[in-house]
Amino acid sequence: MSLTLTDPERADAGRELVALLDSYERSIPARPIVPALDRDVLLGLREDPFPEQGVGVARLLRDIRDKVLPNSTTIAHPRNLAYVLGPPNGIAPYVEAIAAAINQNCNFSQLSPAASVIEQSVVRWLAGLFGWGTGAGGLITDGGSMATLNALTTALHDHCPDFRATGLQAGRPALVLYTSREAHRSVQKAAAILGLGVDNVRSIATDADFRLRADVLRQTVEADRVAGLRPFCVVATSGTVATGAIDPVDEIADICADHGLWLHIDGAYGGLFVLSERVRGSLAACTRADSISVDPHKLLFAPLEAGCLLVRDRRKLADAYSFKSSYLPDGDDSLMIDYMDYGPQLSRGFKAFKVWGALRAFGVGAFRSAVDDNLDLARYFAERVSASPVMELMAPVTLTAVCLRITTITESAHDDVLSTLSAEGTALLGPVTLDGRDGIRACVTNYRTTKADIDLVVDRLTGIAMSRR
Ligand SMILES: Cc1ncc(COP(=O)(O)O)c(C=O)c1O
Repeated sequence: MSLTLTDPERADAGRELVALLDSYERSIPARPIVPALDRDVLLGLREDPFPEQGVGVARLLRDIRDKVLPNSTTIAHPRNLAYVLGPPNGIAPYVEAIAAAINQNCNFSQLSPAASVIEQSVVRWLAGLFGWGTGAGGLITDGGSMATLNALTTALHDHCPDFRATGLQAGRPALVLYTSREAHRSVQKAAAILGLGVDNVRSIATDADFRLRADVLRQTVEADRVAGLRPFCVVATSGTVATGAIDPVDEIADICADHGLWLHIDGAYGGLFVLSERVRGSLAACTRADSISVDPHKLLFAPLEAGCLLVRDRRKLADAYSFKSSYLPDGDDSLMIDYMDYGPQLSRGFKAFKVWGALRAFGVGAFRSAVDDNLDLARYFAERVSASPVMELMAPVTLTAVCLRITTITESAHDDVLSTLSAEGTALLGPVTLDGRDGIRACVTNYRTTKADIDLVVDRLTGIAMSRR
């Protein structure tokens, strides 16, 4: 029994893979966004025992085509406008296949020399977008949540020099983390994982545009200091998940400077809008942060997973994560970075490859245009909602998230509208709650979406709203 393919099997597998990718790509607009599930097939996928004698490549690919694809959500569909989730770019499946073939272990450079410099080039380019130079560093992560977890770990090590030795066990007053009410739940989750405790996360009030109120932040930090607590970090959001609001980073950075706090920017959704000339100015103050998370698997349309943590002073990452071990080599090549010293993982895949490959294949300009197109489409969506007698915007449209309410139905009925749109195949949109009121959220992070798609969605929402008048 061999785990390699024979020459003819490899030729067949290649041909069939290419055919499958090609037919999938062509079928995307016609596929249901959320499939009608074949539960028998799914049950079979869960329960069928693995065969002692393999089914072979042709049968495997046929099963994938006939059983897996029809029961998979069409994330790439042009009217998938839910959450913050874009279609993968076109070169991604090919680069991913090569990554699997060469299987570099991006822990230390002996096992991944080219990968080490490719990851550095991606990180350097991303850091440069925020005005950071070669002193900055970072690493590709599983996503924005992991980037923020790693950032908070780094902040803890920076704030408490004995953190590695004592953790949170030194019996001192509570460390306190500040973020806004509109922050992504990954911030609270990170605080829970790190043992900070969500009770020690202050959810600072926001203004009418859902931006963190810097005056309240300052008062809260000062009150905590007076109470003998230990403020250590603020997580500001550049592009909140619900509305795309951008916190006032300049004012927040002043507060952090006054109180010696680490400033992390959650830019998982909004950070990469820095590619657009129109938004760049609103993100300029991010350069003052200590760390920034961004998500190439959102606006760079990398297939899942690819997040990135950027740290202004890359030595801080090593302070948090570098451990010596007798069974691993010590890196001493200035061309290389041993990424095991920059994050919690030892074995790591080559996630930077797909980001690098797409930037090389399509060029940065293609991504700038995609981001600008998404901004245009969101603005158009918002204009149509504003002009409608049966819908209203729930928040300003800063980036590409459009939050709306249908005025002819109750708040709780918005969930039914979402189900209708999804069941009939019109669009996948998401729910939103703002100031305690429920509505619908559409987020354009999809380079396949066109104006006609937006029209179709808005027309259908209007039709539903009118029918309930
Ligand atoms: C503002 C914000 N932060 C964090 C995240 C989490 O990112 P990920 O899903 O890559 O972990 C998201 C996801 O949409 C987000 O919008």
